[in-house]
Amino acid sequence: MSDDSRPSPAGTRTAAVIPAAGRGVRLGPGAPKALRALGGTPMLIHAVRAMAASRAVSLVVVVAPPDGAPEVKSLLDAHALPERTDFVVVPGGDSRQESVRLGLDALPPDYDIVLVHDAARPLVPVDTVDAVIEAVREGAPAVVPALPLADTVKEVEPAAAPGEPEPVVATPERSRLRAVQTPQGFERAALVQAHETVTDDVTDDASMIEQLGLRVVVVPGHEEAFKVTRPLDLVLAEAVLARRRLNDGF
Ligand code: CTP
Ligand code: MG
Repeated sequence: MSDDSRPSPAGTRTAAVIPAAGRGVRLGPGAPKALRALGGTPMLIHAVRAMAASRAVSLVVVVAPPDGAPEVKSLLDAHALPERTDFVVVPGGDSRQESVRLGLDALPPDYDIVLVHDAARPLVPVDTVDAVIEAVREGAPAVVPALPLADTVKEVEPAAAPGEPEPVVATPERSRLRAVQTPQGFERAALVQAHETVTDDVTDDASMIEQLGLRVVVVPGHEEAFKVTRPLDLVLAEAVLARRRLNDGF
């Protein structure tokens, strides 16, 4: 067993909040994204299992589509999940940020480390989860797993109309850029304070901590922690699952 897969030391308890309330517009028409099947099992169940796979995580808070909490509760009841982990389901909000805040509101007092993990990243390996938790335990108020980029990134002046050519404004040095994933890990107090004070729209939780002026660190992410966003991502996710089944067979 690796050092960082140990259960919580006395006095630290870790919970995972899983925002799963999005529609999945970019994936196309159908059920809310988190409830779509991957390898025959809802994406959300994969994501919950990925968090519960860490021995440090003793509570998972699932933030369900606003009108879907009862359905999500019965899904969790219907699928085998580790006995050592508790589950809570709350309805989500209009934005990811609001959904995360509603999840935080449902946390019992005795958890001092919080992971926030997209339901849309169903295949994150447990080693990545444990590495994030370990870095928070070592004193970082916020930790994000991230990978170097394959593509060069351009900053542009966004087009007024779709399809119009867009002037390039800058080309940031690729070697200094990282694509961030989840789970992101936090000292609970810092994340709660961030949600109480930062009102700008953000696409990840760590950027709220940056706005507070607190230290955010990056640990290595994993290719399999990619976000299922567009239809092609479903093809990749099915392929990853098929490869895992094959490898498990040996
Ligand atoms: N999310 C949420 N509440 C919202 C919007 C998003 O809990 N109001 C969650 C999604 O369920 C997802 C995660 O935030 O697990 C990351 O968001 P994203 O990948 O953008 O998912 P969607 O918003 O569902 O997809 P889209 O933007 O294509 O509609
Ligand atoms: Mg979205």
